[in-house]
Amino acid sequence: MRLAVDAAGCMGHGRCYQMAPDLFASDDEGFVTIRGQVIEVPAGQVEAAEDAEGTCPEQAITLLP
Ligand code: F3S
Repeated sequence: MRLAVDAAGCMGHGRCYQMAPDLFASDDEGFVTIRGQVIEVPAGQVEAAEDAEGTCPEQAITLLP
């Protein structure tokens, strides 16, 4: 599984890195550091990735096969 963070969609709500700190980190302005990127989700982080997708109020996180 991979996940993508929409660069324009992230508004810095911070729920993703609070809920899944092993997958996401904050930049100096509170935006997630992987804006505009697609990353591979480690096998042990699938549930955290699903939780993060569900918690982002901007729906900026998308899980990909
Ligand atoms: Fe951004 Fe959504 Fe996380 S707005 S900081 S991707 S919770």
